[in-house]
Amino acid sequence: MTQDELKKAVGFAALKFVKPKTIVGVGTGSTAAHFIDALATIKNDIIGAVSSSEASTKKLMEYGIRVFDCNDVDSLDIYVDGADEINHQMQMIKGGGAALTREKIIAAISKKFVCIVDESKVVETLGNFPLPIEVIPMARSYVAREIFKLGAKPIYRDGVVTDNGNVILDIHDFMIPNAIEMEHKINNIAGVVTVGLFANRGANIALIGTKSGVKEIA
Ligand code: 5RP
Repeated sequence: MTQDELKKAVGFAALKFVKPKTIVGVGTGSTAAHFIDALATIKNDIIGAVSSSEASTKKLMEYGIRVFDCNDVDSLDIYVDGADEINHQMQMIKGGGAALTREKIIAAISKKFVCIVDESKVVETLGNFPLPIEVIPMARSYVAREIFKLGAKPIYRDGVVTDNGNVILDIHDFMIPNAIEMEHKINNIAGVVTVGLFANRGANIALIGTKSGVKEIA
């Protein structure tokens, strides 16, 4: 199976967590896009979705799925999204698609985070994938200097402006054995909007696409 077929398998497997007559939290990226395709097959059974990006909103609306403003929803039963890396503690690096801030907000209002990944995303220690941080544009250089002090290498994601009008720094050469502590530390740098570490609020369920089928970890 190709990587995309594994992503499709977990995207469709996540449907079993969607309860009828609920509003579903929807992530961003190629795996989440498969989940949207799956969601479209039961669109008449759900009330709608809260979306983590303009790209996912567009796809949901093309299917005729109603997209709610996050401010109009108190809580969500589930949030389904991909990840760039996930470790065995269900902590993740996210933000490869630059949607990390909205993703973190939706994760925060969701009772369950269902992470859908192909097996290449499962790691012992987070950090091989460069850690994205969303930064207020005027703070870009300051935040980069602070990241250097942590012994890592921040690289500006040239040409990318987030849905919130900010920029992305990707932190390279940075293995993260202490993800909760590092999430707090980076969040505390002035000018950081969101760090793409989802450790404090990790996943509740992981669906991992493997060549021998979809594995579920809870
Ligand atoms: C977007 C994300 C995505 O979930 C992450 O980048 C994984 O993407 P894909 O499913 O395309 O591999 O965090 O900001």
